[in-house]
Amino acid sequence: MSRRFTPPRLIRRAMVLSLPSFVVLAGLVIARDMHVLTALALWGWIVLALSWLIRPGMVDAARVALWARNLAAGGENTPPPVTPDTPIEEIVSSVAQLRRAWQERQNELALLAKWNESLFENLPDPLILLNPERRVVKFNQSALSVFARDISGRDLSVVLRNPNVLEAADAVLNGAQARDGAFDLPVPVARSFQFRIERLGPSPASDAVAVLALNDLTTVKRMEQMRADFVANASHELRTPLATLLGFIETLRGPARDDVEARDKFLGIMYDQGSRMARLVNDLLSLSRIELNEHTPPGESVDFGRIIQAGADALLPLVQPRRMQVQVSIDENARMVIGQADELAQLAQNLMDNAVKYGRDGTAVDVSLRLATSLPAAAGSGLRGGTAVVFAVRDHGDGIGKEHLPRLTERFYRVDTARSRTLGGTGLGLAIVKHIVNRHRGALVVESTLGQGSVFSVYLPGAKAQVSLAAVPASASTSGGRL
Ligand SMILES: Nc1ncnc2c1ncn2[C@@H]1O[C@H](COP(=O)(O)OP(=O)(O)O)[C@@H](O)[C@H]1O
Ligand SMILES: [Mg+2]
Repeated sequence: MSRRFTPPRLIRRAMVLSLPSFVVLAGLVIARDMHVLTALALWGWIVLALSWLIRPGMVDAARVALWARNLAAGGENTPPPVTPDTPIEEIVSSVAQLRRAWQERQNELALLAKWNESLFENLPDPLILLNPERRVVKFNQSALSVFARDISGRDLSVVLRNPNVLEAADAVLNGAQARDGAFDLPVPVARSFQFRIERLGPSPASDAVAVLALNDLTTVKRMEQMRADFVANASHELRTPLATLLGFIETLRGPARDDVEARDKFLGIMYDQGSRMARLVNDLLSLSRIELNEHTPPGESVDFGRIIQAGADALLPLVQPRRMQVQVSIDENARMVIGQADELAQLAQNLMDNAVKYGRDGTAVDVSLRLATSLPAAAGSGLRGGTAVVFAVRDHGDGIGKEHLPRLTERFYRVDTARSRTLGGTGLGLAIVKHIVNRHRGALVVESTLGQGSVFSVYLPGAKAQVSLAAVPASASTSGGRL
Protein backbone atom coordinates (compact mmCIF):
# COMPACT_ATOMS: atom_id res chain seq x y z
CA MET A 1 0.00 0.00 0.00
CA SER A 2 1.32 3.47 -0.79
CA ARG A 3 0.28 6.94 0.11
CA ARG A 4 0.79 10.35 -1.42
CA PHE A 5 3.93 12.35 -0.78
CA THR A 6 3.33 15.14 1.78
CA PRO A 7 5.85 17.32 3.77
CA PRO A 8 4.62 16.06 7.18
CA ARG A 9 5.19 12.47 6.00
CA LEU A 10 8.70 13.45 4.89
CA ILE A 11 9.47 14.99 8.28
CA ARG A 12 8.03 11.99 10.12
CA ARG A 13 10.10 9.58 8.03
CA ALA A 14 13.26 11.71 8.60
CA MET A 15 12.57 11.74 12.33
CA VAL A 16 12.24 7.96 12.39
CA LEU A 17 15.51 7.62 10.46
CA SER A 18 17.25 10.04 12.83
CA LEU A 19 16.33 7.96 15.91
CA PRO A 20 19.89 6.51 16.36
CA SER A 21 21.42 10.02 16.35
CA PHE A 22 18.67 11.12 18.74
CA VAL A 23 19.66 8.30 21.13
CA VAL A 24 23.36 9.29 20.92
CA LEU A 25 22.57 12.97 21.50
CA ALA A 26 20.29 12.07 24.42
CA GLY A 27 23.15 10.01 25.91
CA LEU A 28 25.51 12.98 25.63
CA VAL A 29 22.99 15.28 27.33
CA ILE A 30 22.42 12.78 30.16
CA ALA A 31 26.18 12.41 30.61
CA ARG A 32 26.28 16.23 30.72
CA ASP A 33 28.70 16.29 27.87
CA MET A 34 26.37 18.44 25.84
CA HIS A 35 23.86 21.09 26.56
CA VAL A 36 20.28 20.10 25.88
CA LEU A 37 19.66 23.06 23.53
CA THR A 38 22.78 22.29 21.52
CA ALA A 39 21.68 18.66 21.23
CA LEU A 40 18.18 19.68 20.11
CA ALA A 41 19.59 22.08 17.51
CA LEU A 42 21.93 19.40 16.24
CA TRP A 43 19.11 16.87 16.04
CA GLY A 44 17.00 19.42 14.16
CA TRP A 45 19.80 19.83 11.63
CA ILE A 46 20.11 16.04 11.30
CA VAL A 47 16.37 15.74 10.64
CA LEU A 48 16.49 18.50 8.03
CA ALA A 49 19.53 16.97 6.34
CA LEU A 50 17.87 13.54 6.26
CA SER A 51 14.68 15.08 4.86
CA TRP A 52 16.68 16.66 2.07
CA LEU A 53 18.36 13.33 1.33
CA ILE A 54 15.28 11.07 1.25
CA ARG A 55 12.87 13.55 -0.36
CA PRO A 56 13.59 12.61 -4.05
CA GLY A 57 13.24 8.90 -3.29
CA MET A 58 9.93 9.43 -1.53
CA VAL A 59 8.59 11.66 -4.31
CA ASP A 60 9.59 9.05 -6.92
CA ALA A 61 8.05 6.19 -4.92
CA ALA A 62 4.78 8.11 -4.54
CA ARG A 63 4.66 8.85 -8.28
CA VAL A 64 5.40 5.23 -9.18
CA ALA A 65 2.73 4.01 -6.77
CA LEU A 66 0.18 6.38 -8.32
CA TRP A 67 1.19 5.28 -11.82
CA ALA A 68 0.91 1.58 -10.92
CA ARG A 69 -2.56 2.17 -9.46
CA ASN A 70 -3.51 3.94 -12.68
CA LEU A 71 -2.21 1.05 -14.79
CA ALA A 72 -4.15 -1.48 -12.75
CA ALA A 73 -7.29 0.53 -13.43
CA GLY A 74 -6.53 0.40 -17.18
CA GLY A 75 -5.06 3.93 -17.41
CA GLU A 76 -2.27 5.46 -19.52
CA ASN A 77 1.10 3.78 -19.88
CA THR A 78 3.26 6.97 -19.89
CA PRO A 79 5.80 6.40 -17.09
CA PRO A 80 6.20 9.19 -14.47
CA PRO A 81 9.47 11.27 -14.38
CA VAL A 82 11.79 9.75 -11.76
CA THR A 83 15.35 10.40 -10.66
CA PRO A 84 17.66 8.82 -13.23
CA ASP A 85 20.04 5.96 -12.41
CA THR A 86 18.12 4.84 -9.33
CA PRO A 87 16.55 1.46 -8.58
CA ILE A 88 13.15 3.16 -8.89
CA GLU A 89 13.91 4.14 -12.47
CA GLU A 90 14.70 0.48 -13.20
CA ILE A 91 11.45 -0.61 -11.60
CA VAL A 92 9.56 1.93 -13.75
CA SER A 93 11.12 0.69 -16.97
CA SER A 94 10.41 -2.98 -16.05
CA VAL A 95 6.79 -2.20 -15.18
CA ALA A 96 6.37 -0.27 -18.46
CA GLN A 97 7.75 -3.27 -20.35
CA LEU A 98 5.44 -5.63 -18.46
CA ARG A 99 2.52 -3.39 -19.22
CA ARG A 100 3.35 -3.32 -22.96
CA ALA A 101 3.58 -7.13 -23.10
CA TRP A 102 0.33 -7.43 -21.18
CA GLN A 103 -1.37 -4.95 -23.51
CA GLU A 104 -0.26 -6.96 -26.55
CA ARG A 105 -1.58 -10.14 -24.97
CA GLN A 106 -4.82 -8.39 -24.17
CA ASN A 107 -5.18 -7.25 -27.79
CA GLU A 108 -4.51 -10.80 -28.97
CA LEU A 109 -7.13 -12.15 -26.58
CA ALA A 110 -9.65 -9.54 -27.73
CA LEU A 111 -9.02 -10.52 -31.36
CA LEU A 112 -9.33 -14.19 -30.51
CA ALA A 113 -12.60 -13.56 -28.67
CA LYS A 114 -13.91 -11.60 -31.67
CA TRP A 115 -12.86 -14.37 -34.02
CA ASN A 116 -14.57 -17.00 -31.85
CA GLU A 117 -17.64 -14.82 -31.69
CA SER A 118 -17.85 -14.47 -35.47
CA LEU A 119 -17.21 -18.20 -35.88
CA PHE A 120 -20.09 -18.94 -33.50
CA GLU A 121 -22.32 -16.42 -35.26
CA ASN A 122 -21.60 -17.64 -38.76
CA LEU A 123 -21.58 -21.41 -38.33
CA PRO A 124 -24.26 -22.78 -40.64
CA ASP A 125 -25.74 -25.00 -37.93
CA PRO A 126 -28.04 -23.44 -35.34
CA LEU A 127 -26.27 -23.26 -31.95
CA ILE A 128 -27.77 -22.42 -28.56
CA LEU A 129 -25.81 -21.97 -25.32
CA LEU A 130 -27.60 -22.88 -22.09
CA ASN A 131 -26.97 -21.91 -18.47
CA PRO A 132 -27.36 -24.34 -15.53
CA GLU A 133 -31.05 -23.33 -15.22
CA ARG A 134 -31.65 -24.46 -18.83
CA ARG A 135 -32.09 -20.89 -20.03
CA VAL A 136 -30.73 -19.64 -23.36
CA VAL A 137 -27.60 -17.58 -22.76
CA LYS A 138 -26.70 -17.04 -26.38
CA PHE A 139 -27.67 -18.22 -29.87
CA ASN A 140 -26.25 -17.71 -33.35
CA GLN A 141 -27.68 -16.24 -36.58
CA SER A 142 -28.65 -19.64 -37.89
CA ALA A 143 -30.67 -20.33 -34.72
CA LEU A 144 -32.34 -16.94 -35.15
CA SER A 145 -33.46 -17.92 -38.63
CA VAL A 146 -34.90 -21.19 -37.29
CA PHE A 147 -36.83 -19.68 -34.38
CA ALA A 148 -37.51 -16.34 -36.07
CA ARG A 149 -37.39 -14.46 -32.74
CA ASP A 150 -35.08 -13.45 -29.93
CA ILE A 151 -34.92 -16.45 -27.60
CA SER A 152 -32.25 -15.24 -25.17
CA GLY A 153 -33.12 -15.62 -21.50
CA ARG A 154 -35.93 -18.08 -22.23
CA ASP A 155 -36.22 -21.55 -20.79
CA LEU A 156 -35.45 -24.18 -23.44
CA SER A 157 -38.92 -25.69 -22.92
CA VAL A 158 -40.44 -22.44 -24.24
CA VAL A 159 -38.16 -22.43 -27.26
CA LEU A 160 -38.36 -26.13 -28.16
CA ARG A 161 -41.32 -28.01 -26.80
CA ASN A 162 -39.88 -31.37 -27.67
CA PRO A 163 -39.58 -33.98 -24.89
CA ASN A 164 -36.52 -35.64 -26.50
CA VAL A 165 -34.57 -32.38 -26.54
CA LEU A 166 -35.65 -31.36 -23.02
CA GLU A 167 -34.81 -34.76 -21.57
CA ALA A 168 -31.38 -34.69 -23.20
CA ALA A 169 -30.78 -31.12 -21.99
CA ASP A 170 -31.73 -32.03 -18.40
CA ALA A 171 -29.45 -35.06 -18.47
CA VAL A 172 -26.48 -33.00 -19.67
CA LEU A 173 -27.19 -30.17 -17.22
CA ASN A 174 -27.25 -32.81 -14.45
CA GLY A 175 -23.79 -34.08 -15.33
CA ALA A 176 -24.03 -36.29 -18.44
CA GLN A 177 -21.34 -35.51 -21.04
CA ALA A 178 -23.47 -35.47 -24.22
CA ARG A 179 -26.79 -36.61 -25.69
CA ASP A 180 -28.20 -36.61 -29.21
CA GLY A 181 -31.44 -37.32 -31.03
CA ALA A 182 -33.88 -35.97 -33.59
CA PHE A 183 -37.06 -33.91 -33.64
CA ASP A 184 -39.45 -32.13 -36.01
CA LEU A 185 -40.37 -28.48 -35.81
CA PRO A 186 -43.88 -27.79 -37.13
CA VAL A 187 -43.67 -23.95 -37.13
CA PRO A 188 -42.97 -21.50 -38.78
CA VAL A 189 -42.30 -24.06 -41.57
CA ALA A 190 -42.15 -27.81 -41.05
CA ARG A 191 -38.51 -28.82 -40.58
CA SER A 192 -36.63 -31.87 -39.33
CA PHE A 193 -33.55 -31.65 -37.16
CA GLN A 194 -30.90 -33.80 -35.61
CA PHE A 195 -29.58 -32.41 -32.33
CA ARG A 196 -26.61 -32.88 -30.05
CA ILE A 197 -26.22 -31.34 -26.64
CA GLU A 198 -22.82 -31.28 -24.96
CA ARG A 199 -21.32 -30.02 -21.72
CA LEU A 200 -18.95 -27.07 -21.91
CA GLY A 201 -15.92 -26.37 -19.72
CA PRO A 202 -16.17 -23.44 -17.28
CA SER A 203 -15.77 -20.00 -18.84
CA PRO A 204 -14.92 -16.74 -17.07
CA ALA A 205 -16.86 -14.80 -19.71
CA SER A 206 -20.18 -16.61 -19.64
CA ASP A 207 -22.37 -18.79 -17.42
CA ALA A 208 -23.08 -21.12 -20.37
CA VAL A 209 -22.55 -24.74 -19.35
CA ALA A 210 -23.93 -26.62 -22.36
CA VAL A 211 -24.25 -26.16 -26.11
CA LEU A 212 -27.18 -27.41 -28.15
CA ALA A 213 -26.27 -27.87 -31.82
CA LEU A 214 -28.96 -28.50 -34.42
CA ASN A 215 -28.48 -30.03 -37.83
CA ASP A 216 -31.18 -29.25 -40.38
CA LEU A 217 -32.20 -32.47 -42.13
CA THR A 218 -35.18 -30.98 -43.95
CA THR A 219 -33.54 -30.89 -47.39
CA VAL A 220 -32.06 -34.37 -47.05
CA LYS A 221 -35.42 -35.78 -45.95
CA ARG A 222 -37.21 -33.96 -48.75
CA MET A 223 -34.74 -35.36 -51.27
CA GLU A 224 -35.24 -38.86 -49.87
CA GLN A 225 -38.99 -38.41 -50.10
CA MET A 226 -38.71 -37.08 -53.66
CA ARG A 227 -36.60 -40.03 -54.70
CA ALA A 228 -39.06 -42.48 -53.18
CA ASP A 229 -41.99 -40.64 -54.80
CA PHE A 230 -40.20 -40.61 -58.12
CA VAL A 231 -39.62 -44.36 -58.13
CA ALA A 232 -43.23 -44.97 -57.04
CA ASN A 233 -44.56 -42.58 -59.71
CA ALA A 234 -42.38 -43.94 -62.50
CA SER A 235 -43.36 -47.52 -61.65
CA HIS A 236 -47.01 -46.55 -61.52
CA GLU A 237 -46.81 -44.74 -64.87
CA LEU A 238 -45.22 -47.79 -66.48
CA ARG A 239 -47.47 -50.31 -64.81
CA THR A 240 -50.72 -48.88 -66.19
CA PRO A 241 -49.91 -49.27 -69.92
CA LEU A 242 -48.13 -52.54 -69.17
CA ALA A 243 -51.24 -53.96 -67.51
CA THR A 244 -53.32 -52.85 -70.50
CA LEU A 245 -50.88 -54.50 -72.89
CA LEU A 246 -50.86 -57.76 -70.95
CA GLY A 247 -54.64 -57.71 -70.72
CA PHE A 248 -55.01 -57.37 -74.47
CA ILE A 249 -52.40 -60.03 -75.16
CA GLU A 250 -54.40 -62.39 -72.94
CA THR A 251 -57.60 -61.49 -74.80
CA LEU A 252 -55.95 -61.98 -78.18
CA ARG A 253 -54.62 -65.36 -77.13
CA GLY A 254 -58.01 -66.45 -75.80
CA PRO A 255 -61.49 -65.21 -76.59
CA ALA A 256 -60.56 -62.85 -79.43
CA ARG A 257 -58.17 -65.24 -81.13
CA ASP A 258 -60.21 -65.49 -84.32
CA ASP A 259 -61.99 -62.15 -84.19
CA VAL A 260 -60.23 -60.15 -86.92
CA GLU A 261 -62.10 -56.92 -86.21
CA ALA A 262 -61.37 -57.03 -82.48
CA ARG A 263 -57.76 -57.96 -83.16
CA ASP A 264 -57.20 -54.86 -85.30
CA LYS A 265 -58.82 -52.66 -82.67
CA PHE A 266 -56.81 -54.22 -79.84
CA LEU A 267 -53.57 -54.01 -81.76
CA GLY A 268 -54.23 -50.29 -82.25
CA ILE A 269 -54.72 -49.83 -78.49
CA MET A 270 -51.66 -51.95 -77.79
CA TYR A 271 -49.63 -49.81 -80.14
CA ASP A 272 -50.77 -46.64 -78.32
CA GLN A 273 -49.93 -48.12 -74.92
CA GLY A 274 -46.58 -49.36 -76.17
CA SER A 275 -45.85 -45.90 -77.57
CA ARG A 276 -46.80 -44.36 -74.25
CA MET A 277 -44.33 -46.62 -72.47
CA ALA A 278 -41.66 -45.79 -75.03
CA ARG A 279 -42.29 -42.04 -74.57
CA LEU A 280 -42.07 -42.43 -70.83
CA VAL A 281 -38.83 -44.40 -70.99
CA ASN A 282 -37.39 -41.88 -73.46
CA ASP A 283 -38.34 -38.97 -71.22
CA LEU A 284 -36.88 -40.71 -68.17
CA LEU A 285 -33.64 -41.35 -70.01
CA SER A 286 -33.48 -37.74 -71.26
CA LEU A 287 -34.04 -36.47 -67.76
CA SER A 288 -31.29 -38.57 -66.24
CA ARG A 289 -28.88 -37.68 -69.07
CA ILE A 290 -29.50 -33.94 -68.65
CA GLU A 291 -29.22 -34.20 -64.87
CA LEU A 292 -25.93 -36.00 -65.26
CA ASN A 293 -24.51 -33.12 -67.32
CA GLU A 294 -26.17 -30.34 -65.38
CA HIS A 295 -22.96 -29.16 -63.70
CA THR A 296 -21.18 -28.52 -67.05
CA PRO A 297 -22.87 -25.75 -69.04
CA PRO A 298 -22.69 -26.18 -72.82
CA GLY A 299 -20.34 -23.84 -74.67
CA GLU A 300 -21.28 -24.07 -78.37
CA SER A 301 -22.91 -21.37 -80.41
CA VAL A 302 -26.22 -22.72 -81.69
CA ASP A 303 -28.77 -21.38 -84.21
CA PHE A 304 -31.76 -21.57 -81.88
CA GLY A 305 -33.95 -19.73 -84.39
CA ARG A 306 -33.63 -22.56 -86.89
CA ILE A 307 -34.33 -25.16 -84.18
CA ILE A 308 -37.51 -23.34 -83.17
CA GLN A 309 -38.69 -23.06 -86.76
CA ALA A 310 -38.07 -26.79 -87.36
CA GLY A 311 -39.94 -27.65 -84.14
CA ALA A 312 -42.90 -25.48 -85.16
CA ASP A 313 -43.00 -27.12 -88.59
CA ALA A 314 -43.05 -30.55 -86.99
CA LEU A 315 -46.20 -29.56 -85.12
CA LEU A 316 -48.18 -28.96 -88.32
CA PRO A 317 -49.87 -32.41 -88.35
CA LEU A 318 -51.07 -31.70 -84.79
CA VAL A 319 -52.30 -28.13 -85.29
CA GLN A 320 -53.97 -28.38 -88.67
CA PRO A 321 -56.86 -30.68 -87.68
CA ARG A 322 -57.61 -28.33 -84.75
CA ARG A 323 -57.50 -25.19 -86.92
CA MET A 324 -54.65 -23.88 -84.81
CA GLN A 325 -51.62 -21.89 -85.95
CA VAL A 326 -48.10 -21.66 -84.65
CA GLN A 327 -46.89 -18.12 -85.34
CA VAL A 328 -43.14 -17.91 -85.14
CA SER A 329 -41.33 -14.58 -84.87
CA ILE A 330 -37.56 -14.63 -84.64
CA ASP A 331 -35.33 -11.59 -84.13
CA GLU A 332 -32.24 -12.09 -86.30
CA ASN A 333 -30.04 -10.59 -83.56
CA ALA A 334 -31.26 -13.15 -81.07
CA ARG A 335 -31.15 -16.32 -83.12
CA MET A 336 -27.72 -17.47 -81.92
CA VAL A 337 -27.45 -18.73 -78.35
CA ILE A 338 -24.86 -20.55 -76.30
CA GLY A 339 -26.20 -24.02 -75.78
CA GLN A 340 -26.53 -27.63 -76.81
CA ALA A 341 -28.61 -28.14 -79.96
CA ASP A 342 -30.39 -31.41 -79.03
CA GLU A 343 -31.36 -30.13 -75.60
CA LEU A 344 -32.58 -26.81 -77.00
CA ALA A 345 -34.68 -28.73 -79.56
CA GLN A 346 -36.18 -30.79 -76.75
CA LEU A 347 -36.88 -27.63 -74.73
CA ALA A 348 -38.60 -25.86 -77.64
CA GLN A 349 -40.51 -28.99 -78.58
CA ASN A 350 -41.84 -29.56 -75.06
CA LEU A 351 -43.03 -25.97 -74.61
CA MET A 352 -44.61 -25.67 -78.07
CA ASP A 353 -46.15 -29.13 -77.73
CA ASN A 354 -47.75 -28.11 -74.41
CA ALA A 355 -49.03 -24.84 -75.90
CA VAL A 356 -50.70 -26.73 -78.73
CA LYS A 357 -51.98 -29.50 -76.45
CA TYR A 358 -53.43 -27.18 -73.83
CA GLY A 359 -54.42 -24.37 -76.24
CA ARG A 360 -58.00 -24.06 -77.47
CA ASP A 361 -59.02 -25.23 -80.92
CA GLY A 362 -58.85 -22.48 -83.52
CA THR A 363 -56.46 -20.31 -81.51
CA ALA A 364 -52.88 -19.35 -82.26
CA VAL A 365 -49.70 -20.24 -80.43
CA ASP A 366 -47.28 -17.31 -80.50
CA VAL A 367 -43.65 -18.28 -80.44
CA SER A 368 -40.97 -15.60 -80.33
CA LEU A 369 -37.22 -15.36 -79.88
CA ARG A 370 -35.82 -11.92 -79.15
CA LEU A 371 -33.17 -10.09 -77.16
CA ALA A 372 -34.10 -9.78 -73.49
CA THR A 373 -34.49 -6.16 -72.44
CA SER A 374 -34.66 -7.12 -68.79
CA LEU A 375 -33.85 -10.18 -66.72
CA PRO A 376 -35.91 -11.95 -64.09
CA ALA A 377 -34.69 -11.10 -60.56
CA ALA A 378 -33.34 -14.56 -59.88
CA ALA A 379 -31.53 -14.94 -63.23
CA GLY A 380 -28.48 -17.18 -63.00
CA SER A 381 -24.84 -16.24 -63.51
CA GLY A 382 -24.96 -17.38 -67.13
CA LEU A 383 -27.25 -14.49 -68.01
CA ARG A 384 -25.65 -11.67 -66.07
CA GLY A 385 -22.33 -11.58 -67.85
CA GLY A 386 -23.32 -10.77 -71.43
CA THR A 387 -26.41 -10.64 -73.59
CA ALA A 388 -29.50 -12.71 -73.02
CA VAL A 389 -32.26 -13.86 -75.32
CA VAL A 390 -35.79 -14.77 -74.37
CA PHE A 391 -37.75 -17.57 -76.02
CA ALA A 392 -41.45 -17.12 -75.28
CA VAL A 393 -44.33 -19.47 -76.05
CA ARG A 394 -47.81 -18.01 -75.57
CA ASP A 395 -50.96 -20.08 -75.82
CA HIS A 396 -54.63 -19.23 -75.67
CA GLY A 397 -55.87 -22.05 -73.50
CA ASP A 398 -57.46 -22.41 -70.09
CA GLY A 399 -54.41 -21.12 -68.23
CA ILE A 400 -52.93 -22.58 -65.05
CA GLY A 401 -54.13 -21.84 -61.50
CA LYS A 402 -51.66 -19.84 -59.43
CA GLU A 403 -51.40 -22.61 -56.84
CA HIS A 404 -50.00 -25.01 -59.44
CA LEU A 405 -47.23 -22.72 -60.74
CA PRO A 406 -44.58 -23.51 -58.10
CA ARG A 407 -44.96 -27.27 -58.66
CA LEU A 408 -45.31 -27.30 -62.44
CA THR A 409 -41.75 -28.45 -63.12
CA GLU A 410 -41.86 -31.36 -60.63
CA ARG A 411 -41.66 -34.75 -62.24
CA PHE A 412 -45.09 -36.22 -62.98
CA TYR A 413 -46.86 -33.14 -61.66
CA ARG A 414 -49.94 -32.45 -63.74
CA VAL A 415 -52.72 -29.94 -63.26
CA ASP A 416 -55.23 -32.38 -64.75
CA THR A 417 -53.81 -35.90 -64.81
CA ALA A 418 -56.56 -37.48 -66.88
CA ARG A 419 -56.34 -34.75 -69.52
CA SER A 420 -52.57 -35.01 -69.71
CA ARG A 421 -52.75 -38.80 -70.16
CA THR A 422 -55.46 -38.57 -72.80
CA LEU A 423 -53.30 -36.12 -74.69
CA GLY A 424 -50.36 -38.51 -74.50
CA GLY A 425 -48.39 -36.55 -71.90
CA THR A 426 -45.83 -38.18 -69.63
CA GLY A 427 -45.83 -35.42 -67.01
CA LEU A 428 -42.08 -35.08 -67.48
CA GLY A 429 -41.93 -32.41 -70.19
CA LEU A 430 -41.57 -29.38 -67.94
CA ALA A 431 -39.17 -31.21 -65.61
CA ILE A 432 -36.96 -31.79 -68.65
CA VAL A 433 -37.34 -28.13 -69.65
CA LYS A 434 -36.32 -26.98 -66.18
CA HIS A 435 -33.20 -29.16 -66.14
CA ILE A 436 -32.19 -27.99 -69.61
CA VAL A 437 -32.65 -24.38 -68.50
CA ASN A 438 -30.59 -25.07 -65.38
CA ARG A 439 -27.82 -26.65 -67.40
CA HIS A 440 -27.76 -23.61 -69.70
CA ARG A 441 -27.63 -21.35 -66.60
CA GLY A 442 -30.77 -19.64 -67.83
CA ALA A 443 -34.14 -18.92 -66.25
CA LEU A 444 -37.71 -20.10 -66.78
CA VAL A 445 -40.62 -17.77 -66.04
CA VAL A 446 -44.24 -18.88 -66.25
CA GLU A 447 -47.06 -16.38 -66.37
CA SER A 448 -50.61 -17.57 -66.65
CA THR A 449 -54.10 -16.15 -66.39
CA LEU A 450 -57.01 -18.54 -65.92
CA GLY A 451 -59.31 -18.49 -68.90
CA GLN A 452 -56.84 -16.60 -71.08
CA GLY A 453 -53.74 -18.73 -71.43
CA SER A 454 -50.11 -18.97 -70.42
CA VAL A 455 -46.72 -17.63 -71.43
CA PHE A 456 -43.63 -19.76 -70.84
CA SER A 457 -40.47 -17.64 -71.18
CA VAL A 458 -37.00 -19.13 -71.25
CA TYR A 459 -34.02 -16.79 -70.81
CA LEU A 460 -30.78 -18.09 -72.32
CA PRO A 461 -27.30 -16.64 -72.77
CA GLY A 462 -26.98 -15.06 -76.23
CA ALA A 463 -24.03 -16.00 -78.44
CA LYS A 464 -23.29 -12.49 -79.77
CA ALA A 465 -22.62 -9.41 -77.67
CA GLN A 466 -25.35 -7.01 -78.71
CA VAL A 467 -26.63 -5.01 -75.76
CA SER A 468 -25.65 -4.97 -72.16
CA LEU A 469 -28.37 -5.64 -69.65
CA ALA A 470 -29.27 -4.27 -66.29
CA ALA A 471 -31.09 -6.71 -64.06
CA VAL A 472 -34.58 -5.52 -63.22
CA PRO A 473 -37.23 -7.17 -61.07
CA ALA A 474 -39.26 -10.01 -62.58
CA SER A 475 -42.52 -9.34 -64.37
CA ALA A 476 -45.07 -7.79 -62.06
CA SER A 477 -47.66 -10.32 -63.13
CA THR A 478 -49.38 -11.69 -60.05
CA SER A 479 -49.88 -15.05 -61.68
CA GLY A 480 -46.29 -15.52 -62.76
CA GLY A 481 -43.29 -16.93 -61.06
CA ARG A 482 -39.76 -18.13 -61.74
CA LEU A 483 -39.48 -21.87 -61.60
N1 LIG B 1 -49.39 -24.38 -71.81
C1 LIG B 1 -50.01 -24.97 -70.81
N2 LIG B 1 -51.28 -24.63 -70.48
C2 LIG B 1 -51.91 -25.23 -69.46
N3 LIG B 1 -51.36 -26.18 -68.69
C3 LIG B 1 -50.11 -26.56 -68.96
C4 LIG B 1 -49.36 -25.98 -70.02
N4 LIG B 1 -48.15 -26.54 -70.05
C5 LIG B 1 -48.14 -27.44 -69.05
N5 LIG B 1 -49.31 -27.47 -68.40
C6 LIG B 1 -49.66 -28.28 -67.24
O1 LIG B 1 -48.47 -28.71 -66.66
C7 LIG B 1 -48.43 -30.14 -66.57
C8 LIG B 1 -47.01 -30.60 -66.76
O2 LIG B 1 -46.56 -30.37 -68.06
P1 LIG B 1 -45.56 -31.39 -68.72
O3 LIG B 1 -44.46 -31.58 -67.74
O4 LIG B 1 -45.20 -30.90 -70.05
O5 LIG B 1 -46.37 -32.73 -68.75
P2 LIG B 1 -47.37 -33.31 -69.85
O6 LIG B 1 -46.71 -34.54 -70.28
O7 LIG B 1 -48.64 -33.56 -69.11
O8 LIG B 1 -47.49 -32.30 -70.92
C9 LIG B 1 -49.36 -30.59 -67.64
O9 LIG B 1 -49.91 -31.85 -67.31
C10 LIG B 1 -50.43 -29.53 -67.63
O10 LIG B 1 -51.37 -29.81 -66.63
MG1 LIG C 1 -45.68 -31.70 -71.95
